Formats: sequence, C-alpha cells, structure tokens
Amino acid sequence: MPEFKEIKIYELDPEEFINEKIGEISRIVGKNGKAITALSGGVDSSVATILGYKALSDRLKVCFVDNGLMRENEPEQVALIFKKLGVTVEVIDAKEEFFAALEGVSDPEKKREAITQTFYRNVFRRVMESSGARYLLQGTILTDIEETVAGIKRQHNVFEQIGIDPKKAFGYQIIEPLIEIRKDSVRKVAKALGLPEDIYNRMPFPGPALAARVIGEVTFKKIEIVRKTTTILEGELELEGTGAFQYMAILHKDRVTGMRNGKRDFGYQVELRCWDSIDARVATPTELSWDLLKRLSKRITTEVPGVVSVTYNITTKPPSTMEAI
Ligand code: XMP
Repeated sequence: MPEFKEIKIYELDPEEFINEKIGEISRIVGKNGKAITALSGGVDSSVATILGYKALSDRLKVCFVDNGLMRENEPEQVALIFKKLGVTVEVIDAKEEFFAALEGVSDPEKKREAITQTFYRNVFRRVMESSGARYLLQGTILTDIEETVAGIKRQHNVFEQIGIDPKKAFGYQIIEPLIEIRKDSVRKVAKALGLPEDIYNRMPFPGPALAARVIGEVTFKKIEIVRKTTTILEGELELEGTGAFQYMAILHKDRVTGMRNGKRDFGYQVELRCWDSIDARVATPTELSWDLLKRLSKRITTEVPGVVSVTYNITTKPPSTMEAI
C-alpha cells in the first residue's frame, strides 16, 4: 500500500492548520474563482465548508444534496445549524435521481458506484454549470483514502488516489483540505473553528448514507424501514449516553418467519451495530446493557412496520467492517 502524508493528532496545531488550509483554498480557486461544497452535516464536510467559507466568502456555494437516503429531517436540521453560523445552505432535491440510479442494483460496490456517479457526474456537475464554479471542495480524510486504495470498500469521495482524474471524469477540480488527517484530528480542527458541539462531536455518517445499511437492492420502502429504526436507535442511545463512536441499523435482505397475534408473519430482520473506536480503522462492539437491547427490540418490532426480528452485532472490525456494504 502506498504511503500517504499524515499529520498525526499530537503533531497537529489546529490554528496553524486552519490558516494554512484557508491560504491553500484561496490560492487554488484564485481571486475571482468560485467553488461549491458538498455539505452533508458530518464533521468532515462541515470543516471543509467553514474553511472554504473563510477563504472565499460568498464565492463559495454551499450545497446539501437531499438524496432521499438521509436520516429523518436531516436536510432541514443541517441547513438550520449552518444558518445560525451565517452560512446559507442550498438544499438540492435529487431524491428521484438517486432511487432511479439504485434500482435493480444489489452488489455492494456497484451500489457505491451508482451513488458516486449520481453525485459527481450528475448533481455536482449540474450545480457547477449553473453557478459558474470550477472547484468542488470536499472533506475526504486519510482513512477514506486508505480503505479505498486497499480495496476494502470504495468510499464515495475518493478519486485521484485510485487513478481517476476528476477534471477529466467530471469536468471540475476537487479540493480536499483534510486528506492528511483522521477523524479525531478533524474534530479538533472543528472545535478550533468554533463549530457547535452538535457538529464537532457528530457521529460519523457515510457518504452513501442509509444505502450503505440496506443489504441488497435499495428501495424507498427499505430506506423507510432503516430510517425509522435509526430514529429509534439514535434516540435511545443518545439518552443512554454510551460514548460510542458510531451506531447504526442495518436491514437484511432475507426475511424470516415471525408471529403476530397468533398468526404467521413473514417479515424483515434488522441488525443493530454499535462501535467503540478512535478513528474507524479498528473497532469493537460496545457492551450495551441487556435492558437497553430489550427495549430497542421491543420498540423496533412494535413501531417499525414489517420488522419481526432484531439482532445485535458482536463481531469486531476486522473481520467485519462498520457499515454493512
Ligand atoms: P467501514 O464500513 O469501512 O467504515 O468500516 C469506516 C468509517 O467510514 C464511514 N464510511 C464512509 N464515509 N464515505 C464516507 O464518507 C463512504 O463511502 C463511507 N463508507 C463508510 C463509516 O460510516 C465509518 O465511520
């Protein structure tokens, strides 16, 4: 595996890093140039957005792509957080486009590829053309690159390191100010930038969003099941205050025989995962209390239509990965 430049967390001076990156973005985009950012509300894209905003002010267009695969109310919540920071976010409705691209696709890497192409070849290219921007600013971090280059999974936002020139493939250049650091360092930079705790402590959420948590073909109905389960899981675990790195609900492809009101109910099974980790390279399942697990199972099978079985993952990464696809 090639070696990539890394600034280790103990070497990082956040103020110095911030000034350096603001200067770098200004230099690349030029005095009159324009850029767009792909904001998802996660800490990585939020930091990239604020660095870009400090460098370019209103020459930066901040976009949140609503791909229909996000958690409940996520587009509105992210737009509101940034509004309070003085940054206007344009929410782009691309729900139908993403579901159309995912139709009939069940292979994990093909699903990831369909999402990547819809983001970069369709949605971002359209926004570039309509806004006159020539640069896309995004929050790729070192771990994203390493996992993609190692062939573990194709992270949605990695190109140059696997031999794809974004300029040739999509017609615009990509700026990645965070590729030398990992998640724990990004959080440090986010705090130094004055981002609210809601952002600097935000749980990671993958670019392919809930599509990474549906095994097999992604449909609107399946996303709805994962979305509802995620709301219950996140609410309960937040109340519990586990301090976990990340938690998620996964919808399995196979159905199982359940029973309701004395009758057979052939329904869906969801798997819950909750990870302790520092930087997502390795992870162990959190030892959640039995009471909490029982409460989750009861609520999910009662409140999410179609689900008859709930399991909890007890495998470490490796050999598992954190997301399901
Ligand atoms: P895995 O599943 O590879 O996940 O163990 C490690 C961390 O990366 C996140 N993840 C992604 N993040 N684009 C991203 O920005 C992606 O395509 C992607 N896939 C996984 C995952 O949520 C976890 O935090």
